[in-house]
Amino acid sequence: MNELDLMTKIVSLCKRRGFVFQSSEIYGGLKSAYDYGPLGVELKRNIAAAWWRSMVYERDDIVGIDASIIMHPKVWETSGHVAGFSDPLVDCLNCKERFRGDKAPRAEVGSEVVFHEGGKSSGKKLKGNVGACGYVCPVCSSPNLSDERQFNGMFRTTLGPVDPLAEFFKEIKEKNLDEREMRAKYEECLKRSLVYLRPETAQAMFVQFLNVQQTTSMKVPFGIAQQGKSFRNEIVVEHFIFRSCEFEQMEMEFFIEPGTQDQWLKYWTDERMSWYKKYANSGESFRLRQHDKTELAHYSDDCYDVEYLYPWGWGELEGIASRTDYDLKRHGAATGSKLSYFDQNKADPETGKPGWRYVPYVIEPAAGLTRTVLAMLLDAYCEEKSVDANGQEKVRVLLKLHPALAPSKAAVLPLVKKDGQPEKAEAIAKELRRAGLNVACDDAQSIGKRYAKHDEVGTPFCITVDTQTLEDQTVTLRDRDTAQQERLTIPAAVAKVVEACRHP
Ligand code: GAP
Repeated sequence: MNELDLMTKIVSLCKRRGFVFQSSEIYGGLKSAYDYGPLGVELKRNIAAAWWRSMVYERDDIVGIDASIIMHPKVWETSGHVAGFSDPLVDCLNCKERFRGDKAPRAEVGSEVVFHEGGKSSGKKLKGNVGACGYVCPVCSSPNLSDERQFNGMFRTTLGPVDPLAEFFKEIKEKNLDEREMRAKYEECLKRSLVYLRPETAQAMFVQFLNVQQTTSMKVPFGIAQQGKSFRNEIVVEHFIFRSCEFEQMEMEFFIEPGTQDQWLKYWTDERMSWYKKYANSGESFRLRQHDKTELAHYSDDCYDVEYLYPWGWGELEGIASRTDYDLKRHGAATGSKLSYFDQNKADPETGKPGWRYVPYVIEPAAGLTRTVLAMLLDAYCEEKSVDANGQEKVRVLLKLHPALAPSKAAVLPLVKKDGQPEKAEAIAKELRRAGLNVACDDAQSIGKRYAKHDEVGTPFCITVDTQTLEDQTVTLRDRDTAQQERLTIPAAVAKVVEACRHP
């Protein structure tokens, strides 16, 4: 299968079967925002639950929080986001594309490039020389570009019943201000009620470090985990749910003793890689890539990305950063809070005296939940070709999702809509639901079409109720991946489904 074709097929399957819809579609859609449908929300929740299990429930050294999306605006000044969370925005003067300069195709400064007028293949062929920026337009290859402008990616809004614009007009009335002065005045009026939508979930874990540590008496090393929405006003949104403006993250800040960061970074990169491989079919589609020094964020002394082999190439799925003591130190200094930890069993390395107070270092595995939904869908998509009795080629589409992640764990299918079969199917579905599983009961269409539909949405098992079921309380259990069926008693079929859906 052509790799980019795969992406088209995934987007189409997501819409056709109710995984992901374009936001506000009937109004023409909103660029870069997506709604998760009945199956998508289940897949997303199952991935989030699998992460929470491995981070919080299966360990005694990590606890969770759920912080607000809107935080005190000073949090983002202190963290460096107000000053530094920006990307270089560039406009192509030829085709009008707006793009990020740091992601544009590189070209030798001064070299000659050929491009089409207006970016259209029918346009006149033009020649130009690459400017000092060293890149060309990613769409039409033109070197005729605007200067870079720094564009801050945080969404701004106002808190409370104030209208900054009204205050602004009041303040500039009868003052003869030029554009720069007016802008400064506007920012001043806005600042009185300005807040941001969080661009990452991480900062709440630093800001609540003391509250969490003191209320739980956690001892270093320990972690705080959080999942939730984050917002970035991305210059370029791309590849369906891979990069959107509203997305979900799963982040964990692991607080450690200074000097142990190399060992913990290795530990967390191994842990996170094995988590993905436990749930995916092709382990070789996941890799670790160490950042080179020039890529490191200002707060980081080392960093790895977990990358996935998307249809367009390797790309980031999760960042695992060694964040030093940057955030706790900054928030401590900005607020006067003592964001430190006292280890009474260790001697202070400087004085040699018993008891050591230090600001913990941090290892941060930061995953994208919505991006993991995409990676798991891509990993699961399969097409099986066969030839039927009439010599016709048939394609069976299936999503080989791990049963623990699959939106629906089983579909209970009465062969016919009579003779007590629908009622029996409902009773079996009820039993599976009592065991905590999300199951579907489906009597529409022919049995073949129902199997095909449930293969396509990743349902691991189909339980078929037929005439024999009413006679001897047995059903057929069909396995999604092999399409093999076996006849089992109802309790044995239920037990098999429950067992297969356990987390690895
Ligand atoms: N606290 C660190 C942090 O936020 P990041 O690498 O910017 O690090 C972590 O983000 C993860 O969040 C990324 O690896 C990616 O999976 C996801 N992510 C970031 N921006 C995204 C976007 N615009 N759309 C979807 N997912 C995004």
